Amino acid sequence: MSTIEDVKPVPVTLGGVRGGPERRTLRRDRWWASPAFTYAVLTLFVAYTAWAVFQNADYYVGVNMHRDLISPLYSPCIMGSCVPGAHGTFLVLHWWTITPAIFALSVPAAFRSTCYYYRKAYYRSFWQAPPACGVADGHARYTGETRFPLILQNLHRYAWGLALVWNVILTIDAVMAFRMPGDGGIGVSVGSLILTVNAIALWLYSLSCHACRHLCGGHVDQFSKAPIRHRLWKLVTPLNGRHMQFAWFSLFMVVLADVYVRIVAAGWIHDPKLF
Ligand code: FES
Repeated sequence: MSTIEDVKPVPVTLGGVRGGPERRTLRRDRWWASPAFTYAVLTLFVAYTAWAVFQNADYYVGVNMHRDLISPLYSPCIMGSCVPGAHGTFLVLHWWTITPAIFALSVPAAFRSTCYYYRKAYYRSFWQAPPACGVADGHARYTGETRFPLILQNLHRYAWGLALVWNVILTIDAVMAFRMPGDGGIGVSVGSLILTVNAIALWLYSLSCHACRHLCGGHVDQFSKAPIRHRLWKLVTPLNGRHMQFAWFSLFMVVLADVYVRIVAAGWIHDPKLF
């Protein structure tokens, strides 16, 4: 086993990209593994979502069937192109004839794409700016988030507020999923559990947001003079420490919920009732 004394010093010449060493990095570990993994997972997610959005079918198991399940990729479904009976169709916007998922995903997409954690993830994995700590930037120039379009990342706090509205809607969807018209009233099925865990994951992701923590405890000089904000700050701070985990878990749950509702709506499985 090599020790720290065995590692030979690497000659360094300064003057590379933005004043760094001439070589890309002095790191000898697998620094590329994390950005490569992130790249692969986010690419798969975007590809799946793009496919699902334009299916415009099999996203709702209607009350006329045996369950009341709607995919989170298509909720709120308030557009003229929604299938009859989908939650929210009492608000139908008739002029919208393309897939309703584009509207339903507008807020979650703005929220996730401006998230501080996801910014780090895709700046590293897609833009290589930089790909990892101690690794040279993939670009000769760096303007940060000071110019269009990246200056729009500052809208994250507003996207957070809208995302809370979406969370309420998806929580209502989860509660409605316990209605089982085909099985005599109310019960618990695999689908209702999946939509419930999905709603909880979305709340955890939103409440662990850095903008949320700042809203609770930011700009306070003395917590003793703002006891309610102090209490809220203490509640969200432990969640904030797990924001990355909630970001990935909630992303996974959204895909799982969509896949599950899709295969039930297509008639592949019956959504087993547990009790
Ligand atoms: Fe990630 Fe706000 S920082 S959701």
